[in-house]
Amino acid sequence: MNQETNKLTLMECAGVSEADRERYRGMLDFVKECLAKPQKDQEHVFCINFDRYLHTERVLSWALRLYDGWEDKSRIDLDALITATIFHDCGYPTCDDLKDHAEESARIAAEYLPKAGYGEERAEFIAELVRYHGEKAWLTGRPAAVALAGAASMTTDGAIPDELTILMEADLFDDMGVMGIVMDTWIQAQTNAEVTFESIRDHINKYTLRLQYRDREKLRSDVAKKIWDEKTKLVQDFYDSLCTDLELPM
Ligand SMILES: [Fe+2]
Ligand SMILES: [Fe+2]
Repeated sequence: MNQETNKLTLMECAGVSEADRERYRGMLDFVKECLAKPQKDQEHVFCINFDRYLHTERVLSWALRLYDGWEDKSRIDLDALITATIFHDCGYPTCDDLKDHAEESARIAAEYLPKAGYGEERAEFIAELVRYHGEKAWLTGRPAAVALAGAASMTTDGAIPDELTILMEADLFDDMGVMGIVMDTWIQAQTNAEVTFESIRDHINKYTLRLQYRDREKLRSDVAKKIWDEKTKLVQDFYDSLCTDLELPM
């Protein structure tokens, strides 16, 4: 099954109509163009050829999988979730500083959505989901001192909307598990002229393996925790097996 078929099947399972799937295809094409723009002169955090559009497609698949396993779907605005996920990183090439990419992505979404027939309130809600997707610490509680408008203000007691929870959790998934192992290896090959099996093992230990345990406590949903734990086991088993093969301590 190729990636496109997989994503469409996930959308079908979520009950998305053919007309809406076509609409999302148009949004994805728009975002693909945004991400193909030449990158402004920013400090590059990624030393590997990380395709941000393909990341967006993968995060969308994760968001749909998490939605599929979500206990109370009645609390979720699926269209807002899908739309925000499609737009969440589209501002990478045109932001002045990479840490402001979410703000730039929200600006692009807020400009696009009214033209695509979204009312002011819905467009603002979706743009806010995009704007705050990087605040992963909010998964464990939004700071009360932060004054917010739109989406985030629609919740109480420091909670965030379920759509934002799913977007954040889906975004976290793309760097973890086997993807994390591949990226650690790729980064080592790219940055270390003296790369060895041992240096790759150390890199996996320092990044993916550590983050599997550290970021577990950020997760809020049961479905995300279950998938995450499977990934942690896989990374731990991989790491242990690599240590055994290299005759190195674990
Ligand atoms: Fe992002
Ligand atoms: Fe992302």
